[in-house]
Amino acid sequence: MSDALSYLIRARPEAMRHYFRFLKETGKHLDPKTRSLISVITKVHAQTEAGLKQYVRRALDDGATPTEILDALLMAFPALGLSKIVWAVDVLLKSDLAEFRVESRHAAPAWRRVGELKRFAAGAATRIECDGRALFVYRSGRTFRVYDSHCPHERTDIPLEALSGRELKCPKHGWTFDVANGACISVGTRPLRRYRSKTERGVLYAHW
Ligand code: FES
Repeated sequence: MSDALSYLIRARPEAMRHYFRFLKETGKHLDPKTRSLISVITKVHAQTEAGLKQYVRRALDDGATPTEILDALLMAFPALGLSKIVWAVDVLLKSDLAEFRVESRHAAPAWRRVGELKRFAAGAATRIECDGRALFVYRSGRTFRVYDSHCPHERTDIPLEALSGRELKCPKHGWTFDVANGACISVGTRPLRRYRSKTERGVLYAHW
C-alpha cells in the first residue's frame, strides 16, 4: 500500500472504509485470478510501480501464468496504449521475476535440487540460491519448508541479514514473517510464497 493510502486510512478512516468495502463488493462475483488480473491492469493504467509489483505477484499466486498476465495487458491495449504496456513490461523486467525470464517461460515445472539435507541445521533457516532463485529453507527435524526469498508485498528480495531466529523482517516496509510456517506475523497481510518440496536419498528438492 502506498504511503498516501496509509495516510488517508489514518486521516479519514470512515471514508476510506467505504471505499474498501466498495472495492470488495464489486469483486464479489469474480474468481481470485480474474480479480487479480483486473487489478494488474488498473495498476498499469495508474502507473503505480509498487502496486503493479504487488498485484502481479498476487495474480501469479492466484494461479495466473506469466502469459495470461501479458495477454491481460495486451487485451487492455485500447485503454492502456502501447507506452503504458511497455512501461509495465519494463517494471516486470526490472523486478527480475523468475517467472517472466525468457528461459523460465518455456521451462516446464520440475523438481529442482536444492541441496543435501545435512547442510540445513535443524530449527534454523538458511538462505540459498537454486536454479536462479533465492530461497529460504526452514528445517524442523525431518520436515523442510522452502520459501521464495521475495517479499509478497512489493517483491523486495529479502537478504539473509533480515533473519533473526525464526523472524524474517523485510527491510523495505517491515512486513515480518515466521519462517517456521511462512505466516506474516506483523505489519502485513500475506504469507511468504512457499514451494512444494520433497526429500530423496539425503537431498532436498523444491518444485516450480
Ligand atoms: S516490500 Fe514492502 S514489506 Fe517487503
